[in-house]
Amino acid sequence: MADTELMDKLVSLSKRRGYVFQSSEIYGGTGSVWDYGPLGVELKRNVKEAWWKAMVHMRDDIEGLDAAILMHPRVWEASGHVENFTDPLVECRNCHRRFRVDTLLSETGAADLEHTQCPSCGKTGEWTEPREFNLMFKTFMGPAEDTASVIYLRPETAQGIYVNFLNVQTSARQKIPFGIAQIGKAFRNEITPGNFTFRTREFEQMEMQYFVKPGSDGKFFEEWREARWKWHTDTIGLAADRLRYHPHEKLAHYASAAGDVEFFFGGTIGDEGWGEIEGIHNRTDFDLTRHQEYSGKKLQYVDAAANEKYVPYIIETSAGADRVTLAVLANAYREEEVEGEVRTVLAIKPSLAPLKAGVFPLVKKDGMPDRATQIHEDLRARGIPSFYDESGAIGRRYRRQDEAGTPFCITIDGETMENGTVTVRERDSMQQSRISQDEIVSYLRERL
Ligand code: GAP
Repeated sequence: MADTELMDKLVSLSKRRGYVFQSSEIYGGTGSVWDYGPLGVELKRNVKEAWWKAMVHMRDDIEGLDAAILMHPRVWEASGHVENFTDPLVECRNCHRRFRVDTLLSETGAADLEHTQCPSCGKTGEWTEPREFNLMFKTFMGPAEDTASVIYLRPETAQGIYVNFLNVQTSARQKIPFGIAQIGKAFRNEITPGNFTFRTREFEQMEMQYFVKPGSDGKFFEEWREARWKWHTDTIGLAADRLRYHPHEKLAHYASAAGDVEFFFGGTIGDEGWGEIEGIHNRTDFDLTRHQEYSGKKLQYVDAAANEKYVPYIIETSAGADRVTLAVLANAYREEEVEGEVRTVLAIKPSLAPLKAGVFPLVKKDGMPDRATQIHEDLRARGIPSFYDESGAIGRRYRRQDEAGTPFCITIDGETMENGTVTVRERDSMQQSRISQDEIVSYLRERL
C-alpha cells in the first residue's frame, strides 16, 4: 500500500467500525476536531491507562494530578505563551486562504514568499506581510466580555503541574527527585491542522514533570528518554523500525535539551511521514523561576537533611494521547489476501484492543444462542470486554471482528452442546483451537 493511502483507509475504517467520527458531522463538520466512537473511546482509554499505570501506579516517585483547564491568565504570561506561542501567518491576497509561512515554504520548496505559489488558487507572490498569530484560544470568565476578563484554554497541561509543585510535594511528602503526572485536554488554534487526529485543535496530553536537583538534569533526561522509548515499543507495541528519536537543534524558549519520539505514519505527516508522538524536554528551572517571579510566591525545594534550598530543574515527558492512539491504529492496520479476498485486520496489541473477544453461536438454534450469551455475560462480568454477534455467516462475523481489532473469537457449535468445548480463533494467525468452555477465561487472561 502506498503510504499516502494509509490515512484515508484509517479514516474510513474508523468511521465504519466506530473508532473516530468527524465532530458535528451533520452540520458539515468542525475543522480538525474529532469524536471518538464506541471502539475509539475504549482504545484511547486503554492507551491512557497503560500510561497512567507505567507512570503513576508502578512508581513510588511519581504522583498523579488533575488540574483545571482554566487557569489564572498570569500563568500564561509567566510561561511565555502570551509572548512566544505564535506561528508566522500569511494570507493570499487573491483567495484569502491563510497559511503558516514555514509550512508553506517547506511544502512548496520555494526559497521565499515572492516565489511561492498559493496551494489553493495558484497565484504566485500575492502574500500579505507575515504576522505572528497566537495559538491560544481565548474566552471570557464571567458575564463581562472585556479585556479584564480574558482567560485562555490551556495549550498544554504542564503549567497546571508547575503551579501545584509545592502542594503536591508537601502533601505527598515527596523528596527530590520526584515527578507529577497528568492526563488532560489541551487546545491550540492551529493554523494548518490536519492529517486526521494527528494535528487537531482540541487534543489530549499525557505529561509528566520530573523535578530534579540542578546538575543531575542531564542524567535524568537520558533516563527518561530511554524509559519512554521502551514504553512505546514494549507496552504499546509500536514496531521499533517505525520509531525514531529526533534530537532538536532549535530549542523552545524554556528548554536546554529536547528531542522527540517520532513514529512513521507515512503520507504528508511531519518530516516525510515521520511525525512526533512525544517530546522529552529538559526545561531547566525556567518554569518554576518564572512562576516565582510572576506570583511573588517561593517555589523552592527545601532539603532539610542537606540544609539547602533550590529551585529544581524539570525533565518533562509530553506525549499526545490522540497521536499515540493514531500510531497504534496505523501500526496495526494490515490488508492481506485470504482465499482470493482481501482481509483487513487491525492487529492491535491484545492488552490495548477495545474488545477482547467476539462470542458467536454458529447457528441461531439448538440452544447455541443461550450458551453463547452465557459465555459472553460471564466474560463481561469478569472484566473482559466481549461482543455477542449472531448475525450473518460465521466468516463475515470473523472479518468484522478482524477489522475492529478483536484478538479472539469464540464460537459455540454442535460440539459445544455435546461436550462443552468451544473453538477459539486467533485474529492474527486465524488459527483455531478447541478448548473447554471452563478454560476460556484463563486462556484469554494468559494472552491478554
Ligand atoms: N508541554 C510540552 C508540550 O506541550 P509539545 O511538543 O508542544 O510539548 C507535546 O506537545 C505532545 O502533544 C506532542 O508530542 C503531540 O503528541 C501532542 N500534540 C501537540 N500538538 C498537538 C495537536 N495540535 N494535535 C494533536 N496532538 C498534539
